Amino acid sequence: MNAEQILSQFSATGVQTCFHGRHIEPQIYAGLNGRNWSLKDYEARGGYQALRKILGQDGSAPHPETGVVGFTQDQVIATLKDSALRGRGGAGFPTGLKWSFMPRQFPGQKYLVCNSDEGEPGTCKDRDILLYNPHIVIEGMAIAAFAMGISVGYNYIHGEIFEAYERFEAALEEARAAGLLGNHIMGSHFSFQLHAFHGFGAYICGEETALLESLEGKKGQPRFKPPFPASFGLYGKPTTINNTETFAAVPWIIRNGGQAYLECGKPNNGGTKIFSVSGDVEMPGNYEIPMGTPFSKLLELAGGVRKGRQLKAVIPGGSSSPVLPASIMMNCTMDYDSIAKAGSMLGSGAVIVMDDSRCMVESLKRLSYFYMHESCGQCTPCREGTGWLWRLVDRIERGHGKPADMALLDNVAENIMGRTICALGDAAAMPVRAMIKHFRPEFEHYIEHKTRMAPTANV
Ligand SMILES: Cc1cc2nc3c(=O)[nH]c(=O)nc-3n(C[C@H](O)[C@H](O)[C@H](O)COP(=O)(O)O)c2cc1C
Ligand code: SF4
Repeated sequence: MNAEQILSQFSATGVQTCFHGRHIEPQIYAGLNGRNWSLKDYEARGGYQALRKILGQDGSAPHPETGVVGFTQDQVIATLKDSALRGRGGAGFPTGLKWSFMPRQFPGQKYLVCNSDEGEPGTCKDRDILLYNPHIVIEGMAIAAFAMGISVGYNYIHGEIFEAYERFEAALEEARAAGLLGNHIMGSHFSFQLHAFHGFGAYICGEETALLESLEGKKGQPRFKPPFPASFGLYGKPTTINNTETFAAVPWIIRNGGQAYLECGKPNNGGTKIFSVSGDVEMPGNYEIPMGTPFSKLLELAGGVRKGRQLKAVIPGGSSSPVLPASIMMNCTMDYDSIAKAGSMLGSGAVIVMDDSRCMVESLKRLSYFYMHESCGQCTPCREGTGWLWRLVDRIERGHGKPADMALLDNVAENIMGRTICALGDAAAMPVRAMIKHFRPEFEHYIEHKTRMAPTANV
């Protein structure tokens, strides 16, 4: 299949971007139309006011007690902690807490890195941010750099997306020309140099330490942790890494306050979150909604299950998050805590919807192939185990499965989990265990009858 055929196949799925107006209280995607990405447009939407505010360039009076004009570094971090913003890259780690780990007094160079690698199957939110609202990421990164006393930053952008990379470069040029990046930003003492870096298109380069290796020009393979990037990051220097959407959330928080952001969502899960809804829905696309919104509402926004079919299962947070059956998912709200309680993960917010025509054996075969293909090969349980998993599911799907394969699948998955350098091993094993836990009869049926249990449908 050539590139054009692949692209036309993609557009045939009807995947929409973020311009459908079916968001709820959007903060990052608000007011976007695909053309208004430039600095002038961003400023018309209130852009760079947050940076002005912390640098004391918005005309506000000095603090009555401290005499400080603008924010101190501690104030920015405290505001982030109040907001309960959690990292949008997958793990949901509290952002304010992560920023507080940066050794601000470190005498040498410190780095800030934005993770725009976005390789998780199902996830397509960050590229929309970079394409249609790039300055929100630049402003968020500048605020983060100020808070942590960092003077150099990089945005690592997935190697297979060219338009987003070019757009981000164009926005950087605009920001530099307007004095919003570079030396003495807005005439203040704060200087920040920000660069775009076009990555290499491997899923593993999204793992933060593999990303750092790749940024240094080496093979993108994860490092052992500890040491964590906060103490040994890019070129061995203290480094903070956050996801694109995490940085994009920051300007709103500074403009409106941490408490206001928290109240947009629910306790411990502040603000809005962008969900990339794909699979068997009428209107796939990116949806920005408050944390804690019921899943049923998100499904409704996406037009419901395609062709009026029944919902069978949902992978709620990208391909590495455990699948949940419809009955559990319909009682969940879309936030880290609710999805974790149900036995899965909110992850990167890629919601893959599966209707009742889907065969779980075939779906798992597809997923297992991906992880086998993307394993970087450094550790034996992942390198060998992901291949075992795929070969086992493949053999079941080809009609050569044996009853003992069920236990073997579970055993191989169990022996990968927690025994690898990075979380890709767990990401490969978790979907397998969840599929067996919730859909065991389908696998047993396939082994016994050499065919799928669900009816074959023309989807
Ligand atoms: C295999 C693997 C792939 C990952 N891919 C991404 C990615 O594409 N984008 C991302 O932001 N985080 C990704 N992560 C998570 C990052 O390692 C890191 O936790 C994240 O960038 C931190 O940002 P946050 O705190 O803002 O979420 C990945 C992790 C693993 C294990
Ligand atoms: S778990 Fe897999 S991807 Fe991660 S370092 Fe080990 S071999 Fe590489």
